Amino acid sequence: MTLQLGIFLSGTGSNFRAIRAATLDGRLDARIRLVISNKSEAPGLTFAAEHGIPTLFESKELRASADHAAILLDILHRHEVDFIALCGYMLLVPSRIVQTYTGRILNIHPALLPAFGGKGMYGHHVHEAVIRSGTKFSGATVHLVDEEYDRGPIVMQDIVPIDDGDTPESLAAKVLRVEHRIYPNALQMFASGRIGVNGLRTFLQP
Ligand code: GRF
Repeated sequence: MTLQLGIFLSGTGSNFRAIRAATLDGRLDARIRLVISNKSEAPGLTFAAEHGIPTLFESKELRASADHAAILLDILHRHEVDFIALCGYMLLVPSRIVQTYTGRILNIHPALLPAFGGKGMYGHHVHEAVIRSGTKFSGATVHLVDEEYDRGPIVMQDIVPIDDGDTPESLAAKVLRVEHRIYPNALQMFASGRIGVNGLRTFLQP
């Protein structure tokens, strides 16, 4: 089943671009229908517009509106979005959208959840905390989204070793390479319809 993807992002959008590349070279059976960003200047939003992908800027006024969730849902439906990938989206997705798309929203986090997640754990904060903790491995996690940060069922993870000389920046770069590999793969598991969910566990159906 071809996923009709909606992407939410706030920044660079390198995961979005990795997902798009996978749709173009046949690794991922998906079509990107819409990119939404709460930052008008997000490079990911600009990239989408430059490549003919419909975009929506989610302004502060829109977020403050009582109809915020309804407006976003309407736009998602009008673009026939049936699956959402959060790609560095820095805000909580409104709960009405999470409820409408339950089991059909993924996020990627630059550490091995359930450790090093939750409020405040984003960007360099994550990698600083990971290095400070003394752990020898970090990695990336793709998980289903529920109404709290970084808490839903884990779909895919991969690890990177932490070397003695690693800084938050060098670790972030290593983790990002893993992110770009696993996010399209995790989405393809949904496109192939083989994912089952049992509580916090996901599993591959035969
Ligand atoms: C990634 O590190 C991702 O794990 C986190 O936000 C960052 C987004 O990076 N959720 P990019 O915009 O995809 O380059």
